[in-house]
Amino acid sequence: KLIDKGSVSWSSPSNIALVKYWGKKKDQIPENPSISFTLSDCKTITTICFSKKEKQEEFSFEIYLDAEKKDDFKPKIETFFKRVEVYLPFLKTYHFKIETSNTFPHSSGIASSASGMSALACCLMSVEKALNPEISEAFFMQKASFLARLGSGSACRSLEGDLVVWGYHDEIDGSSDLYGTKYPFDVHNNFKNYQDTILLVDKGEKQVSSTIGHNLMHGHPFAKERFKQASKNLSGVIPVFKKGDLDAFIKIVEIEALTLHAMMMTSMPYFILMKPNTLEIINKIWVFREKTNSKVCFTLDAGANVHVLYPENETESVLKFIKNELVAYCQNGHYICDKIGFGAKQL
Ligand code: PMV
Repeated sequence: KLIDKGSVSWSSPSNIALVKYWGKKKDQIPENPSISFTLSDCKTITTICFSKKEKQEEFSFEIYLDAEKKDDFKPKIETFFKRVEVYLPFLKTYHFKIETSNTFPHSSGIASSASGMSALACCLMSVEKALNPEISEAFFMQKASFLARLGSGSACRSLEGDLVVWGYHDEIDGSSDLYGTKYPFDVHNNFKNYQDTILLVDKGEKQVSSTIGHNLMHGHPFAKERFKQASKNLSGVIPVFKKGDLDAFIKIVEIEALTLHAMMMTSMPYFILMKPNTLEIINKIWVFREKTNSKVCFTLDAGANVHVLYPENETESVLKFIKNELVAYCQNGHYICDKIGFGAKQL
């Protein structure tokens, strides 16, 4: 089908890994499987206007963040277009105006790559679908996730909800290194509407990018054991989700967060992304749990911010604890309340 021009919009959320992806092979193939909660409110909204152009030798696009032209994003998008061109043959046929905005503050230390790349991948798939209307819903989502992975690995886990697996795992049918798939097993009501309050400890740009971090897993002395541990922990969460065992959930989620950072601290060169306040918060959470029997726990991304995870029925007490004891460790007292969500949506 031939189309001269059109426009499409998608919103896509961020996600937070419970079992972490850290280390990759060629073409963004993960060294180990991972699983994440899709978030609800932290998301990117992207609109693409496409129009047919005369010359079709090179990519042509412009990009705006919050209506402001962002030429410094161009190299990243250019690299992405080059990577996905073989899968999207129309990329050189059109000029693209890409307009994007995030619901969370830019300099919050919350990575926008997962939500941003998944929103962009969905928009490009909508162009593909406009040209090939016979594409099925299932194929659309799978290919969008496949493309998002080539933009930023963890982005492939943002398209669906509420739990997404990425990376082949022998106990999870349909799991793949190439794209994220919805977690296929029973999930106990204890995890329904699970809450994630993100404490913004450090809003600065991180000193070591995740690309560099992933690469430092090549030749890392503990890499092999780490990749095995991640698979084991993914097996471990299956009965945990089924039975709603929150104590076992806490153990897996926290060891995963600390192991991710332990890998950073033991690579060569070594580096530390946690800040003193990250550790203050972790210790406060442990004390609070001891004192109150709460099922609150923490996880970390590749940065200093702390994701505080807790069941919905503890919302009031945990928010009170956060306000009274943890906000003091956040930069300018900032935190973001989010919860489990259901993935990308066409607008
Ligand atoms: O998707 P990347 O390449 O930015 O890697 C992110 C990896 C972690 O966020 C640290 C863990 C994960 O699984 O999301």
